[in-house]
Amino acid sequence: CVVLSCAKVQEPLDIQGHRGARGLMPENSIPAFMRALEEGVTTLELDVVITKDKQVVVSHDPYMLSTICDKPNGEPVTKDEEGTLNIYEMDYAEVVGYDCGSRGNARFPEQVKTETAKPLLADVISMVEDHLKENKKPKVNYNIEIKSVESEYNVSQPEVDEFSELVLSVIRERLTNDRFTIQSFDFNVLKHLHKSNPEVHLVALIENAKGVEANLEALGFIPEVYSPYYILLKKEDIDLIHEKGMKVIPWTVNDRKDMERLVADGVDGIITDYPDRAKGLRNRG
Ligand code: G3P
Ligand code: CA
Repeated sequence: CVVLSCAKVQEPLDIQGHRGARGLMPENSIPAFMRALEEGVTTLELDVVITKDKQVVVSHDPYMLSTICDKPNGEPVTKDEEGTLNIYEMDYAEVVGYDCGSRGNARFPEQVKTETAKPLLADVISMVEDHLKENKKPKVNYNIEIKSVESEYNVSQPEVDEFSELVLSVIRERLTNDRFTIQSFDFNVLKHLHKSNPEVHLVALIENAKGVEANLEALGFIPEVYSPYYILLKKEDIDLIHEKGMKVIPWTVNDRKDMERLVADGVDGIITDYPDRAKGLRNRG
């Protein structure tokens, strides 16, 4: 082949809207996912938990967070109530009565306050897909995090295999394998899916400083994506991760200067609460 036709085609930088666009709209909500699409993300990042009646719900926390959620009677959830409002022990009909958007989020002052309930994963995918189709917009991908790590309230939850298969069954009815990745901090989830569904693209979430080699040894296989906390990520790690055949997509990068540094160092994507701040970023080419 001639040199030009042999050149590796580089994929565009993957801009992932964290919990939709948490900096701009209530996290993990339909308005946040719609806003992320408006901001031109290539991937929607979101988290899932399971209700008592086995519905897959989009939520970062496995309970109603007192800092952002209001009860059906309009009163704020108190810190003491959090542990009792455990989504794994509630049916979805009850979950949907809580408003986790009207009060806003003190950590994200730019966030628009708007009434919003925790949505079903099935509804998020259907609404996003319908929106893209109706508006003739390009496809986006979904980076879906299985939140199976025990919370501080010792929440009882399905075993890793049941949890993973439930999530996968909702996704598979709506998306082909090239449209989604499954991410988890819980290596048991990743190990299970690697064995039971080897065609699913997996993302290892890393928040420790053990290093790439040690984490891969613990995982026991090479996932498609290595996704570390961005503060821990150095240029030499990025090169090593690439050498091993993985993409590297750090979380959660909200400062434009950090985004530029990471892109210059060669990351394949950025997960951000503020997809508006990632506009115009391009990879090294
Ligand atoms: O995608 C990685 C990132 O979402 C992990 O952090 O706690 O926001 O789910 P967290
Ligand atoms: Ca997440």
